[in-house]
Amino acid sequence: MRALVYHGPGQRAWEEVPDPEITDEGDVIVRVDATTICGTDLHILAGDVPEVRPGRILGHEAVGTVDEVGDNVHRLTPGDRVLVSCISACGTCQFCREGRYGQCVEGGGWVLGHRIDGTQAEYVRVPYADTSTYRIPEGAKDEEILMLADILPTGYEVGVLAGGVRPGDVVAVVGAGPVGLSAITCARLFSPSHVIAIDLSDARLKAAREFGADVTINDSTEDAASVIKDLTGRLGADVAIEAVGTPATFELAVKLARPGGRIANIGVHGQPALLHLEEQWARDITITTGLVDASATPTLMRLVQTGQLDAGRFVTHRFPMDDFELAYDVFGDAATNGALKVVLHREEEKEEA
Ligand SMILES: NC(=O)c1ccc[n+]([C@@H]2O[C@H](COP(=O)([O-])OP(=O)(O)OC[C@H]3O[C@@H](n4cnc5c(N)ncnc54)[C@H](O)[C@@H]3O)[C@@H](O)[C@H]2O)c1
Ligand SMILES: [Zn+2]
Ligand SMILES: [Zn+2]
Repeated sequence: MRALVYHGPGQRAWEEVPDPEITDEGDVIVRVDATTICGTDLHILAGDVPEVRPGRILGHEAVGTVDEVGDNVHRLTPGDRVLVSCISACGTCQFCREGRYGQCVEGGGWVLGHRIDGTQAEYVRVPYADTSTYRIPEGAKDEEILMLADILPTGYEVGVLAGGVRPGDVVAVVGAGPVGLSAITCARLFSPSHVIAIDLSDARLKAAREFGADVTINDSTEDAASVIKDLTGRLGADVAIEAVGTPATFELAVKLARPGGRIANIGVHGQPALLHLEEQWARDITITTGLVDASATPTLMRLVQTGQLDAGRFVTHRFPMDDFELAYDVFGDAATNGALKVVLHREEEKEEA
C-alpha cells in the first residue's frame, strides 16, 4: 500500500510500504476512505515531537471501512463504516474508566501517527478497535464525521470545557487554525458575550468570523491585550484559549485573561514557554493543559447530526490520496491560501462538496 511516511524533521514522502497486519486480537484493519492533516503533523515535521521516529506513517484522523478484525473484536465486522478517533482507548485501565482516554496506560491514548503507524495511508491498524472507533450514523457525510476525529473534540474538551466557558463570558482564542476555529464554534454553544479571535493571518481571521467570532485581531499589526482591555472595561478575557503551540502565544494567552480568569492551553509545544509568575502570582488565574480524550465524540456527533455544529465547513480543499504531498504543501501554506482542513479521499470515494 501507499502511505505518508515521516523521514525526520522537514522530510516526508508518499511512498510504498508494507500493508499493516493484525498484531493483537483487539485490532482491526481499516481501509481509509478519507483522512486529513492536523497542525500537530506540522509540529512533528518541525521536529517538535521527537518521540515520532523516522519511518513512522503519520496521521491520526480517518473515516474508513473495516477490512479485517482480530479474534477479540466484538462490535465490528468487515464492511462496517467507522470513524477512527485520534485517541485509542483500552477501555479498562484506570484512566479509561475515568473517561480520560488520552491518558490510557495500556497502549492507548494518542498513539496513531505518533507511537504506531497512522491513518495517512490506504490502510491502518487500529488497536482496541471496539473502544477506539465510532460507527458512522446513517446518512452522515464522511467529511463531517472526519472532523470529529480530532479538531472538534479538541477545541471542545481541551479549550471550551477545560476553560469552563459559561454564558456571558468573554472568550479570547489565540490561533484560528482548525483547532482554534473548533474552540470558537463550540464556545458559541454556551452563549458567550464575545468571542475574540487572534491570528497573524487575515484569511484565518475571516474564517474565524464565519465560525462565530465577533471580534478579530491580527496581532502582527494590533495589540491584542489593549483591544481586549478596551472591550472589557480594562478587565481582560474570562477565558483565554491557546490554540497555536508557541512560547509567544502561550504568554499572550496568559496576558489576555482577567484576574480570576482561566487559560486553557491546547497547543502542542516543542519549546519551553515562560510563565511570568512574577506578574501572575497574585492574579488568581487557573491554567489548564491537556491532551484530547475524545470522550465528547458522541455528544459532538449528535450536535453535528442535528445541525447545531456545522462540521462540513471546515473542509476547504479535497485531494486524491496520491496528491498527499501537495496537500501538505497547501495545508502548510494556509496563511496565504485560506486552507482549513484538507481532505484526502480514496480515489473512488470523492464526495460532493
Ligand atoms: N492538545 C491536544 O490534544 C491537541 C489536539 C490537536 C491539535 N493540537 C494542537 O493545536 C494547535 C492548533 O492546531 P491547528 O490544526 O489549528 O494548527 P494550525 O497550524 O492550522 O493553526 C495554527 C494557527 O496559529 C496561527 N498563529 C501562529 N503564530 C501566531 C501568533 N504569534 N499569534 C496568533 N496566531 C498565530 C497561525 O496563523 C494558524 O492560523 C497545534 O499546536 C496542534 O498541535 C493539540
Ligand atoms: Zn491532531
Ligand atoms: Zn486505557
